[in-house]
Amino acid sequence: GYGIGKLMATTGNTTLDPGYTNTASCVSKITFIDGDKGILRYRGYPIEQLAEHATFGEVAYLLIYGELPTEQEMSTFQDKVLGAAMLDERMRDLFRCFPRKSHPMSVLASGVNALAAFNSGHLSVTDEEQIETATIRLLGQFPTLAAYAYKSSLGEPFLYPKKNMGYVANFLRLSFGSPLEEYELDEAVARAFDTLFVLHADHEQNCSTSTVRLVGSAEANIYASVAAGVNALSGPLHGGANQAVLEMLGQIRDQGLDAKSFVSKVKDKESGVKLMGFGHRVYKNFDPRAVIIKKHADEILTSTGKDNALLEIAKDLEEIALNDEYFKERKLYPNVDFYTGLIYEAMGFPSSYFTALFALGRLPGWIAQWREQMAEPGRKIGRPRQVYIGETERDYPVK
Ligand code: ACO
Repeated sequence: GYGIGKLMATTGNTTLDPGYTNTASCVSKITFIDGDKGILRYRGYPIEQLAEHATFGEVAYLLIYGELPTEQEMSTFQDKVLGAAMLDERMRDLFRCFPRKSHPMSVLASGVNALAAFNSGHLSVTDEEQIETATIRLLGQFPTLAAYAYKSSLGEPFLYPKKNMGYVANFLRLSFGSPLEEYELDEAVARAFDTLFVLHADHEQNCSTSTVRLVGSAEANIYASVAAGVNALSGPLHGGANQAVLEMLGQIRDQGLDAKSFVSKVKDKESGVKLMGFGHRVYKNFDPRAVIIKKHADEILTSTGKDNALLEIAKDLEEIALNDEYFKERKLYPNVDFYTGLIYEAMGFPSSYFTALFALGRLPGWIAQWREQMAEPGRKIGRPRQVYIGETERDYPVK
């Protein structure tokens, strides 16, 4: 039978590595992770320094172009991106076709896919000018798409993006603003979002980024490749975990469960329940992003005056799990998603929208990785092999 599980088996010239636990798919100069030491660096810069000092715009530039921008470069980049934020008017109609209850990730992925149809003049994977135009449009239009996915779920009118606001501010206005009045930006919320986006901006060959690269390896255009990444991110084992964590915390509160009995349920494999927001394929000691986010969660929940019941449950779960043999043996720690949902909720977003927020943060990483791959001499189409375990040859039963 097929009991190989996580073992690596070599049959002939083929290596079987389910889940790619030990297989590198590319070389890259973008992001470095040391999972044992909890190190994450973008282009050599430690995540802690970027989270404290850099803006999301600078980080997007750094990931995509390889170096931090000068002031002039940053201002030109921001002007170009915000100048591209408006969608083709017909695209606005696209959102009206979806039922109100559609998941924002389905709508966002469809919107990104549709960008290829609306931008047919720059779908080349080799022409640098076209790649640059597509990069700017994707960065500009993605937040507009995400905000419209949200607005259409509420049945509220769409606003047009504005050029004289920052990237994050513009997105918040498109999501929360109304045509009836001027949007008042909460600077603290905008800053917190900026930091969250910095922390999410790239994470080397995770599931969605590998998807973007695999689709791109067939020379599919950047919009098609990124739409595939959005879909991969939607899964609860990946970016969808931020929504799943908040729902888990809500269930614990609503069913009056205590954190200890919930953790016991998780340890019972028969229950099929996982502690969402815990565990990571690469981080086996701590997730450096989660450490930074936990601090912010405390600050933001206090400043927004939100009910802290869910934060208290999250902290209890973390403390119990970190002191429990089951989690210690398996090196399971809180990941980036454990506390983000609490922050997004405090900012007024519904849980179904959380993963779209993750996608917004991850966009520069997807773009940078797609571009790096396309610029690589001798790149190859991605085409894994398999180990066949089905029937051997047999004859069709002729009657
Ligand atoms: N709760 C309970 N047990 C867990 C959890 C968890 N969250 N995560 C892993 N385990 C257990 C597994 O059951 C397994 O136990 P076993 O050795 O007895 O079979 C062991 O820990 C190792 O876990 P794997 O599933 O083999 O680890 P893998 O690297 O394949 O999976 C993953 C990593 C998908 C993140 C997993 O830890 C998980 O499902 N976590 C919950 C979902 C989540 O938070 N995802 C977000 C990840 S971060 C991101 O994508 C942004």
